[in-house]
Amino acid sequence: MMEIHQFRCTGCSAIVAPEALAGNFRCPDCGDLYEVFYPGWNGPRHTRPNPSALRWLWRERRTSLKAEDRSGVWRFREMLPILGDEAGIVSLGEGNTPLYDLPQSAQCLRLANLRAKHQGMNPTGSFKDTGMTAALSVARERGFHWVACASTGNTSAAMAAYAARAGMRSLVLLPQGKIAGGKLAQAMDYGALTLQLRTDFDGCVRVLAEVVGRAPVYLLNSVNPYRIEGQKTPALEIAEQLEWEVPDHLIVPGGNLANSSALGKGFLEMQHLGLTTRVPKISVIQAEGANPLVRSMQEFGGERIEPVEARTRASAIRIGNPASWRKAVRVLRQTGGFVEQVSEAEIALAKAEIGAEGIGCEPASAVTLAGLKKLLEQGKIERGESVVLLLTGHTLKDPDYTIHFHRGDLLAGEESAPKASLIEGLRRNTIELDADADQVLRELERVHQ
Ligand code: F0G
Repeated sequence: MMEIHQFRCTGCSAIVAPEALAGNFRCPDCGDLYEVFYPGWNGPRHTRPNPSALRWLWRERRTSLKAEDRSGVWRFREMLPILGDEAGIVSLGEGNTPLYDLPQSAQCLRLANLRAKHQGMNPTGSFKDTGMTAALSVARERGFHWVACASTGNTSAAMAAYAARAGMRSLVLLPQGKIAGGKLAQAMDYGALTLQLRTDFDGCVRVLAEVVGRAPVYLLNSVNPYRIEGQKTPALEIAEQLEWEVPDHLIVPGGNLANSSALGKGFLEMQHLGLTTRVPKISVIQAEGANPLVRSMQEFGGERIEPVEARTRASAIRIGNPASWRKAVRVLRQTGGFVEQVSEAEIALAKAEIGAEGIGCEPASAVTLAGLKKLLEQGKIERGESVVLLLTGHTLKDPDYTIHFHRGDLLAGEESAPKASLIEGLRRNTIELDADADQVLRELERVHQ
């Protein structure tokens, strides 16, 4: 499959073969990132994959017992022909995640059609698994023994798990004390060399760039274009789950900005191949304190970006200098989506609302619901339109955040003030009692009133 994919620089459009990629995955001429493309898809229509045959084949594979058929990434392998040999696939059974409806939020917001694609329901609890199965399979095929990433937590958990499955070693650089406990525990459990650096995520990225230049480790951050190939497959799943219709809007959290780019690529490629007839508007939501893309669009029309010192309790998206910002700007332009930012109280409230639907997610994922509310208020999304929120991480990733929210000590008074009554209505603190049925019944009665 190798010879049928190539790389195009997203800055200067230079084309290179897979073997010619530099270890940092940046173009030596302009420094920008590459994307995978498949020259065979640009020939006359009769030479391209047949959409009806593909739809049939992908559905059939769900009933197969082979691991590569059951994976929600490799089931769509005609869309990512990046491996020389399918026998080299490293899979944990990723993808095939649920598309839930959100009836309570839909009713509150008077929306007819609101769903959540829950990528937190992946094997390591985040959307990173779909990209990791793709890029790590390539790493193993190329004969690497070590893989590495800088991470706000989820990438490291996914990479460590897939490396362990492949019998490879993994090096994780984390901002010290700034990642959620669940994610740190995962990296350790899966046997990674876990180094916490006294810096932020952006500092870890800088250090890792130097390390990959000086040691034979394979970089698995999302600048690696193979990650994007895996991460585009939820777009295919969403379309399949909606009978090959696409929603009017897809709302995605924005951190390093690879995921919005990947999903955009997936939807645009599906349209190009005739699998679908249109693309959703893809909107990116950032936390107010980690909003470099929002600023770039507002202040520079998306032409340049100025790094910020990132601050938000949604630690997964505490990123001030996003690597894939140009790709994300392109997806915003190509799909007609919007950028928006949300406050800490808006994130906390939205997370509790998603929890109250019986679904739950980690804080970074909840920016999508908070952003949706703003886009509705601004009339950028209409109530008759269909909306899918992309939930990126499982609620168990960051239990401390949830417990502090329900205890009432997550936010400072001035932060929660604008949303205080809504937040109070959703708080469900835990209560300690003696082992006494009367006390339990008294509580039940009190809450019931
Ligand atoms: N949501 C979650 C739960 C994440 O872990 C991340 C990124 C994002 C959203 C943002 O996605 O970076 O593609 O825009 N986490 C990375 C990590 C950076 O290291 O785990 P993005």
